[in-house]
Amino acid sequence: MNVPDYTQEPFEWYKKMRQESPVFREGNAIHIFSYKEISEVLSNYRIFSSQFRDRLGHEMAEMLNQKTTPSILILDPPVHTTLRNLVNDAFTPATIESYKDRVRKIASDLIANMRNGEWQDEVTQFSYILPITVISEMLGVPQSDSGIFRTWSDKLATSLGRGPDIETQYEMADYFYSKIDRNGNGNSLISRLSRVEIDGRKLSDREIAGFAILLLVAGNETTTNLITNALLSIYESPGVYSEMRSNTGYISSVVEETLRYRSPVQSTRRFAKADTELHGTEILKDDILFLYLGSANRDETIFTEGESFNPHRKTKRHMAFGQGIHFCLGAPLARLEAQIALEEFSKKVASYEVKTPEPEDRLDSDIMYGFKKMIIKPEFQNK
Ligand code: HEM
Repeated sequence: MNVPDYTQEPFEWYKKMRQESPVFREGNAIHIFSYKEISEVLSNYRIFSSQFRDRLGHEMAEMLNQKTTPSILILDPPVHTTLRNLVNDAFTPATIESYKDRVRKIASDLIANMRNGEWQDEVTQFSYILPITVISEMLGVPQSDSGIFRTWSDKLATSLGRGPDIETQYEMADYFYSKIDRNGNGNSLISRLSRVEIDGRKLSDREIAGFAILLLVAGNETTTNLITNALLSIYESPGVYSEMRSNTGYISSVVEETLRYRSPVQSTRRFAKADTELHGTEILKDDILFLYLGSANRDETIFTEGESFNPHRKTKRHMAFGQGIHFCLGAPLARLEAQIALEEFSKKVASYEVKTPEPEDRLDSDIMYGFKKMIIKPEFQNK
């Protein structure tokens, strides 16, 4: 089977698979395209495990374990539950709300630096810089380290779904160890994670490093893609931009529709811990399940005319942030950043054009859908 790496549009293939083989076996890989079955897998962590470090060869797992414990993304309960409870506080909607003014200032400055009426790359100037600046500040990384931080983030994003990049993980773990601050009262995420305690349980150094690395892997490129994918989808849909400009209340619907229509994370994985069955297909212990969230988000049994971008649609229950116990911890932050990015952009830019991205401008990833480069020409309101 020709599995896409998202350097091509996957949506026609998804549609065909939903119609012909929504649960498709190929060797010990099970590819799942339908909303109902993906939801079933994500809700059943007892049978469908995320603990992929257990499946790495012993040597590789040992090397990773030396510096970091597995992050919550690749843990099952009960350890997942304990760790998620420990880090949860840093990500509640109320905590995230407190970053609002800072996110707005960063977004507004970046847009002010764009050149009026000229073709330029929106990704490097705007949607790439915003999330990495926000997460660096949250983690307490000084401006002077931002270069190396970006290099790490890019390397990790490329390795996602293709096996761990041990060298980068080691460098990052050492960096975060040096930031651990058990006795201080700093406000950065690392300082807070160093102090957090539930029932006498604190995070170990390896857990803090593992979590900080996860935030870079899970939070940067995804949010960049959300903003870029939104600007592209809006441009392709006449009327949407003018409606956003006259009614900022509409922007949250545009963000949700982008998450559904061009999901930044197109797929995730689980493996079976026991024999079972899905949609009449036998699943065997140790099979790997590829769950195409981007296909579930266009499933015609849930979304009417799912192949079109329509922020006015009533059904918004997309799975772009996953579902169940691993539901994206950073969803409130990602939504806030995208909302503010689009608010600030539409406030200052009266109209814009987009050059259709070339195949080589697309991200080379087995998991993510987005663009390394997207050339736009903004016409500012007053500049
Ligand atoms: C548009 C942006 C984002 C998208 C589309 C996205 C998507 C996802 C998805 C699909 C999962 C579940 C994966 C699975 O079940 O296998 C997930 C988990 C996670 N995300 Fe996000 N994410 C985004 C932004 C962020 C941000 C900004 C952060 C934090 C800074 C973040 C942190 C996490 C964490 C920590 C998990 C693991 C949660 C757990 O395992 O309990 N994400 N994300």
